[in-house]
Amino acid sequence: MTTSTDSGKRIVVAIDGFSSSGKSTMARRLAASVGYRYIDSGAMYRAVALYALEHGMATEGGELQREAIVASLPQIKIDFKPQPDGTQHTLLNGADVETEIRQLRVSQVVSPVAAIPQVRRALVSMQQALGRDNGIVMDGRDIGTTVFPDAELKIYVDASAQTRAMRRYNELRAKGDTSVQYDDILANVMERDRIDRTRAESPLRRADDAISLDNSEMTLEEQDAWLLSRFDEVTRKGEQ
Ligand code: DC
Repeated sequence: MTTSTDSGKRIVVAIDGFSSSGKSTMARRLAASVGYRYIDSGAMYRAVALYALEHGMATEGGELQREAIVASLPQIKIDFKPQPDGTQHTLLNGADVETEIRQLRVSQVVSPVAAIPQVRRALVSMQQALGRDNGIVMDGRDIGTTVFPDAELKIYVDASAQTRAMRRYNELRAKGDTSVQYDDILANVMERDRIDRTRAESPLRRADDAISLDNSEMTLEEQDAWLLSRFDEVTRKGEQ
C-alpha cells in the first residue's frame, strides 16, 4: 500500500478514547504501516502507578499517598524499547514492566494516579518532547486536547462499556489469566470512565476538531483501512 508519507511530510496523529476502546491497537498498526513512531501514553501513567504500588504509595484498594508520589516523580524514568516483532515494551527505570503494567492491580489504581495534576504535567511534557520531530502516533485521553492541540489528525474512538470490557476480558484470558471475571472488568472499565471523564485536569473529552469513530461493530481490518484513509486525506491535503 502506498501512502503519502513517501512525500516526506510527517504529521502528528492524536488518538483519544476510553480505556479498551481499541485505540492502542489502531494507533500501533497505523504507526507500523506508515513508518511512524508509536507512543502509548497510557503505558506511562501505568508505569507511574506501578512505581507507586511497588513503593507502598498506593494500595490495591485505591488509597494513594499523593504527596509521596509527586515527590518521587524525579526518580521515575520511563522509556520505550522496540521489540523485534515491531511492538515496544515500557521500561520503568530500565526494567521491562510491559507485563506488570497491564495487570488488573495496576488498572485499579492508574486512574486516580493519572488524576494527580503534577503527574499529568510531568508526563505531558515528556510526551510533548517525544513528539517534537513529528512522525508520531500517540494515543491516550488528552492527546488531541492538551498534549498536541495542533495535531494535524485527531481521532476520538468510542465503543460501549460492555464491548470494551469484553475485549479486555478476552485479551487477559488469551494471555492465560484464568482468574479474571467479566463483571470485575466491566466494573473497572466503568469506574475508570467515570474518573477519566470527571477529573479536574485534562478530563477525557473529544477535541472540537477530532473525527469520531465508533468501532463497536468494526473488524480490525476495517478499522485499519478507515484510519489509513483519514491519514492519507490529511497528508495529501498538506501536499497541495
Ligand atoms: O489507555 P490505558 O487504559 O492504558 O490508560 C491507563 C490510564 O491512564 C487510564 O485510566 C487513563 C489514564 N490516561 C490518561 O489520563 N491520559 C492519557 N493520555 C493516557 C492515559
